[in-house]
Amino acid sequence: MADFTNAKNPNHAGAGFSQNCETCHTTNPGWSPATFDHSKTNFPLAGAHTVPPRTCADCHANNNYSITVTACVSCHQKDFDNATAPVPHSGFPTTCEQCHDTVLWTDAKFDHSKTGFPLVGAHTSPPRACVDCHVNNNYNITVTTCISCHQTDFNNAKTPVDHTALPTTCEQCHNTVSWTGANFDHSTTGFH
Ligand code: HEC
Ligand code: HEC
Ligand code: HEC
Ligand code: HEC
Ligand code: HEC
Ligand code: HEC
Ligand code: HEC
Repeated sequence: MADFTNAKNPNHAGAGFSQNCETCHTTNPGWSPATFDHSKTNFPLAGAHTVPPRTCADCHANNNYSITVTACVSCHQKDFDNATAPVPHSGFPTTCEQCHDTVLWTDAKFDHSKTGFPLVGAHTSPPRACVDCHVNNNYNITVTTCISCHQTDFNNAKTPVDHTALPTTCEQCHNTVSWTGANFDHSTTGFH
């Protein structure tokens, strides 16, 4: 029991460790290494959280072993605030795991097809900058209707017919590849 009370690295009593030593220690001589199996917590250590070896205190600052929040941003707010490439992150969701693993920040992958607006046709090719659509770094677009971004194209469309009187549901006649080659199926109307 004196061993427990005196253990400072980490501070067992301060950390609120349980007194079931065998959770973390064997009876092999010496208390080190402990065999605490972090993968049994809600935060398995993987990637840069183990390699290069981290000290417990990197995360358990001030000997706090009662962390209850595992959200990336709870420890990486500064990285988020300082990220500038490919775009400043300020408008991004703070759920880093949507795009990042725990190995490196620079191997991010964002799969736009998992949003409500998969990018196809002229929306990817030629390559578009995120800000072509996410104007002013707004990553909270909630409207996906064609007209919400193509009002001007609609207003200016004159051939073969002036569009003013057409429905604004462009997808009835257009795909996302090009405005020409529209395709309107009159048999879907009430007048064949
Ligand atoms: C939640 C896991 C955990 C529990 C439970 C635990 N320990 Fe530890 N203990 C550790 C870790 C991690 C270390 C650091 C090991 C290292 O440096 O490799 C450690 C180190 C120690 C040390 C060396 C500390 C120092 O300051 O050098 C002693 C002594 C010790 N433990 C005693 C105990 C005793 C006695 C108990 C039970 C009454 C106990 N521990 C329960 C995780 C635990
Ligand atoms: C990269 C960050 C990180 C490192 C490094 C880390 N931990 Fe943790 N640890 C966490 C997080 C986050 C939790 C909370 C998990 C949860 O809520 O279940 C946690 C939980 C714990 C708990 C509480 C488990 C429970 O069931 O209540 C103990 C004990 C612990 N860690 C010990 C250690 C020890 C010992 C080390 C060093 C060998 C270590 N941790 C290294 C992030 C870390
Ligand atoms: C409990 C705190 C904690 C949590 C939660 C946490 N990390 Fe970490 N992470 C660290 C620490 C400490 C380091 C090592 C120091 C550093 O590089 O910031 C680190 C390092 C990293 C690195 C390597 C950074 C580099 O420069 O090489 C990446 C990538 C990373 N974490 C991603 C994540 C992701 C993604 C999540 C959520 C799934 C997450 N982290 C959750 C504490 C945490
Ligand atoms: C919508 C996707 C997305 C989300 C969410 C996201 N990131 Fe990123 N992040 C990226 C992309 C893409 C890169 C560029 C990777 C590359 O260099 O190829 C990046 C790069 C970074 C970089 C390196 C930037 C630089 O300027 O060098 C850091 C640090 C980073 N992200 C941290 C975070 C953190 C922390 C969070 C969560 C709080 C987060 N990111 C959330 C997509 C995202
Ligand atoms: C052609 C237009 C367009 C381009 C280019 C585009 N986006 Fe989007 N993005 C959208 C629309 C529309 C939504 C809203 C989808 C929805 O409501 O689900 C969206 C949603 C998002 C979201 C929110 C997802 C969420 O789950 O909340 C993120 C993050 C995002 N885009 C990142 C990016 C990044 C990073 C790039 C550049 C690599 C990019 N987008 C390029 C149109 C675009
Ligand atoms: C979030 C904004 C956004 C939405 C929603 C959107 N687009 Fe686009 N679209 C763009 C941007 C930005 C471009 C590239 C710049 C340009 O040509 O206007 C583009 C380009 C196009 C082009 C190529 C134009 C050209 O001149 O080559 C077509 C065709 C197109 N979109 C059709 C559609 C259709 C059909 C819909 C609905 C299914 C749609 N778009 C929804 C933003 C959007
Ligand atoms: C009822 C069918 C229909 C609807 C709905 C429709 N269009 Fe068209 N649009 C056409 C046809 C047909 C053409 C001629 C295609 C061609 O030249 O091959 C055309 C041509 C265009 C052109 C090129 C016109 C020019 O003058 O160069 C643009 C731009 C365009 N449409 C934008 C839109 C937008 C934006 C919407 C939705 C807000 C929309 N259209 C809705 C049928 C439609």
